Amino acid sequence: MMYLIAAIAGIAGALFGFDEGVIAGALAPLRRDLGIDPVAEGMMTAAVPFGAFLGAIVAGRLALAFGRRRLLLAAAVLFVVGALLSALAFGLWTLTFARLIIGLGVGVAAMMAPLYISECAPAAQRGMLVSIYQLAITLGILGAYVVGYAFHESWRWMFAVGAVPAIALFVGIFGLSDTPRWLAVRGREAEARAALARMREKSESDPAVKAEFAEILTGATQDENRKARLSDLLTPRVRPALIVAMGLFLLQQLSGINAVIYYAPTVFELSGFGSTTTQILATAGIGVVNVLMTIVGMALIDRLGRRLLLLIGFAGTAVALGVIAIGAATGSEMMGKLALGGLVLYIASFAIAIGPLPWVMMSEVFPLDVRALGMSIASLVNWGFNFLVVFSFPVLVAEFGLAGVFGLYAVVCVVGLAFTQWLVPETSGVSLEEIERHLDSGRPLRDLGPCATSAASRPVPPEERPAMATPPEATSPAAAPLDFALLVAAVLPLDHYHRELEPLLPDLIRIVVLNDQLNAAFRRIAERAGFTEGGEIERAHLGDDGPAVHTFFEYVYFASPAFLSTVGEWPLGGVRG
Ligand code: BGC
Repeated sequence: MMYLIAAIAGIAGALFGFDEGVIAGALAPLRRDLGIDPVAEGMMTAAVPFGAFLGAIVAGRLALAFGRRRLLLAAAVLFVVGALLSALAFGLWTLTFARLIIGLGVGVAAMMAPLYISECAPAAQRGMLVSIYQLAITLGILGAYVVGYAFHESWRWMFAVGAVPAIALFVGIFGLSDTPRWLAVRGREAEARAALARMREKSESDPAVKAEFAEILTGATQDENRKARLSDLLTPRVRPALIVAMGLFLLQQLSGINAVIYYAPTVFELSGFGSTTTQILATAGIGVVNVLMTIVGMALIDRLGRRLLLLIGFAGTAVALGVIAIGAATGSEMMGKLALGGLVLYIASFAIAIGPLPWVMMSEVFPLDVRALGMSIASLVNWGFNFLVVFSFPVLVAEFGLAGVFGLYAVVCVVGLAFTQWLVPETSGVSLEEIERHLDSGRPLRDLGPCATSAASRPVPPEERPAMATPPEATSPAAAPLDFALLVAAVLPLDHYHRELEPLLPDLIRIVVLNDQLNAAFRRIAERAGFTEGGEIERAHLGDDGPAVHTFFEYVYFASPAFLSTVGEWPLGGVRG
């Protein structure tokens, strides 16, 4: 079942890539047949990212009301209509309109497919499935280049081919249900439970399915209660994450990637490659390198770490673009070779890091309560700057030549090096919860990472966690009269497992009163919150004691009958007395 879901997400990714890449091969016959000027060319080409920008906004607004499945079906219909309309277009305006429709589909699918995967995939497979989606984008681009080579005379056939995977997407999605999480948020619990059981290929009464469903329900209620607002993204806690996610997409796009993806044959033409066929063939080579290096990047992402990979990526793209720009500016006789070598190095450096990492990191850095909103804003930055680069490329080349434009992109890549060095945190091997706690603590996001927080260098399973750290300045338990019952009850709702732990509140209070370390930690929290005879405790009041308090709650939860029964360990056979 998960393979089916991955395949469908793969088709959505491939369509995204296909509709980005198909214009590369189509431009030469289009220029011949329609005789277009640079501004019109930029507009028609950039209609896809522009439509995608609008599509992402629409999808963000409608996803809750209509669900992921119906929006993916709508995207498939838009793809088919757009592909057929562009194949039949009788002029520049119909073609631009058709590409706008395709763009809408791309924007909706590019947001819904990863969401569909992440809401259906078991946690352990989520990363792998999201990577498949990124790989599919590059395969789609390559497919478009191959189609461009096969039908090099007829742009109509090139566009028409796009309808085939779109129909496959429609048929595939039609047979699936919506995600268990969305069904749960809409209050359709029975359907949600059935969908989850089907996806896990187990019965609804299976303990693992029951446990996962309980977690989905908790998350769903929390989501409903806490609707993230735009202003939440600007709070000091979330702002560093927003800067990293938006900054990486801005740099990804302004590095000029889509000038190359959409206009590769034009770049080869400007570099002295005479025949259209050679240009398309060289372009297909670029597509192959893009796919292969994305696979290499996927293998290295967790080994080398995000920061080192990004530094390698930005350094490689800066050098490659610089070489092409200098070759073009000096009118070098070797320009053809320089362009080919430079573009291969450029694409390889991009695909290994700058392509996949913004997608990966945008799903890591935001705290859970604002993750969806943060991700949609980051994707809007992606589409907005994608549009800017694709639209401006023909105009800028006409004005400043290839040397000027590639020189500009090279400068952006150098800025990317500085941005990575100073602002990007190392998230590889750090659990999402640890990233969130780091943001809560108010320390600079850049300090995150295995070196800064060695204990957090990998997600530590509960059974391996060290005993709670001794507080540096343990306050005497008897320092001030404090109502621990009220205090613990006020802190508990901030914990992920608060529902499950509520019945155990009297035990939690007793442990906090008896244990010196916890006692001191709770006192410090009360002090920060000015909590004397009751009142509210907020997440920020937990401060440095947050991790210890959450670990304590987690320990109790994992030892509770509520948890043990979900994994078939309760009642404890031999111990039962
Ligand atoms: C980018 C796209 C780009 C693609 C190239 C993606 O990560 O967001 O804009 O066309 O990589 O492989």
